[in-house]
Amino acid sequence: MSLHIIILAAGDGTRMKSSLPKVLHPVGGKAMLARVLETARALEPAAIHVVYNPGTPEVRTTLDAPGITWVAQHERLGTGHAVQQAMPGVPEDAEVLVLYGDIPLVQPATLAPMLERPEALTVLTMDLAEPAGYGRILRDVKGRVVGIVEERDADSDQRSITEVNSGIIFARAGSLKGWLSRLGTGNSQGEYYLTDVFAMAADEACEIGSIGAPSGRELQGANDQSQLAQLETACRAMTAERLMQKGVRIMDPERVELRGDIEASPEVVIDVGAILEGRNRLGEGVHVGPGCVLKDCDLGAGTRIHAYSVLEGVRTQGDCDIGPFARLRPGTELDAGCKVGNFVEIKQTRLGEGSKASHLSYLGDAKIGAGVNIGAGTITCNYDGANKHQTVIADGVFIGSDTQLVAPVSIGRNAVIGAGSTITRDTPEDQLTLSRSKQVSVPGWRRPQKGKKK
Ligand code: UD1
Ligand code: CA
Repeated sequence: MSLHIIILAAGDGTRMKSSLPKVLHPVGGKAMLARVLETARALEPAAIHVVYNPGTPEVRTTLDAPGITWVAQHERLGTGHAVQQAMPGVPEDAEVLVLYGDIPLVQPATLAPMLERPEALTVLTMDLAEPAGYGRILRDVKGRVVGIVEERDADSDQRSITEVNSGIIFARAGSLKGWLSRLGTGNSQGEYYLTDVFAMAADEACEIGSIGAPSGRELQGANDQSQLAQLETACRAMTAERLMQKGVRIMDPERVELRGDIEASPEVVIDVGAILEGRNRLGEGVHVGPGCVLKDCDLGAGTRIHAYSVLEGVRTQGDCDIGPFARLRPGTELDAGCKVGNFVEIKQTRLGEGSKASHLSYLGDAKIGAGVNIGAGTITCNYDGANKHQTVIADGVFIGSDTQLVAPVSIGRNAVIGAGSTITRDTPEDQLTLSRSKQVSVPGWRRPQKGKKK
C-alpha cells in the first residue's frame, strides 16, 4: 500500500493579524510549512498533497519543490472539506496521513508508529492539562474511541476531557473517501469537520485506533502570535536537546537561539546569547563565545569564536581564533591556525595557514598566503567607486600598521611593508617597501602660547 500525505495549509490564519500567510511564519528560522514538508519527506511517502488557499499563492511559490502536489481549496469550508479536495489524487487502496501546516514540530519518529496501525482510522492524541481550544476524544465504557467533539460543540462534561485530538490522523483512503462524502455542516461553525469521520466510523462498528503522543510539545499548533512564541521556545528546546545528546555543551539552553539546521560534533561549546541561523556546521571542539551570531558557517575542529563576533558564510579549516568583536562576511575562508582579532572585517578573502590579522582591519576581495601578518589598521582599498579589485598577498608577508593596499595590487613573498604606507603598485619579494613622507623635526620651533601674538 502506498502512503499519501495530505498537509492542510489553507487556513486563513486571521488570528495571526499578519499579512504573511500563517504557514509561512518562521519557527526556528524556517517556515512552519517547510518544517512539516521536511517531516513528511522523512516518511518517504508515495505522494505529498498540500491543500492551500489560491488567494495566497506565495505559500505555493515559496515552498514549491519536486514531489509536491498543490491542491487549491477555493473556500475555507473546514478541515473535512480541505482533505476532500486532495482525495481525487489519492488511489482507493492508498493510506492517508493528514498533517497540519501549522503544527510544525511533529517528528517523524512520533508519526512512524501510526503508519503501522491496522485499523481503518487512527488518531494521534495527547493529554493536556489545559485542553482549551482542542477537539476532545470521546470514548465508550470499554475505552474505544467513538467520536471527537470540537470545543465549541462540546457540553461541559465533554469539555472536562483532557485527551485531545492532535489533528493528525491516519486512514485507509477508500474508507476515508466514503466518510468524507457524507460529512455535513450541522455544527456551531457550519463547517465540514474532519473530526466527524470518527463518529461515522464508530457507527459502522469500524475499529478506531489511537496513539498517545509521548509529549504534547511537538504537537502544539500556532493560531496566534503568542502560540507562535511558545512554538519558538519549544523548537529551541528540541534542537538543544538533540545537540546535547550528541555531546554538545550548551551553557544555558534557554539563553541561546538555535535556528535553521545545525550539525555539531562532540565537545562543541555554545555560550549564552549565541544566535545560530541558516545552515551551520560546527566541527569537534568548536567554541562559540557569548553573544556571537553565526549564519551559514562551516567551522573546522578547534575553531574558537570569542565574544560578540558576527560571522556569515565563513569557512575555517581548523583551529582558528576569531574575535572578540570580529565581523566576518560571506566568502571568508581561514586555513588552520589563523587569528582574526577585534574590529577586523573580512569578506571574500582567504587567509592561508597561520596568518594573522589581530586588530582593526578591513580585508576584502583578497588572497592572502600562509604565515602573513596584517598589522593593525590595514585596509584593502578594494573599491574604486565603480568596481571591486583584488589584493594578492603572498606567503610570509608582513604588512606594517596603518597600510592602505590600493587594489588591484600584489605583494611579493616575504615582503615587508613599512607602517603607514599607501601601496599602489605591486611590490617585490623579500624587500622592504614603504611610501611615507620623510619625517622632519624643526629646530628652534616653539609651541604657541596664550595671549602672545607672533
Ligand atoms: C482542529 C481540529 C481539532 C484539533 C485541532 C488540533 C477539526 C474540525 N478540528 O481544530 O479537533 O484538536 O485542529 O490543532 O478538524 N484548514 C484548511 N482549510 C480549511 C480549514 C482549515 O486547510 O478550510 C487547515 C488550517 O490551515 C490548519 C488546519 O487545517 O492547518 C486546522 O485548522 P484550524 O482551523 O486551525 O482547526 P482547529 O480549530 O485548530
Ligand atoms: Ca489550529
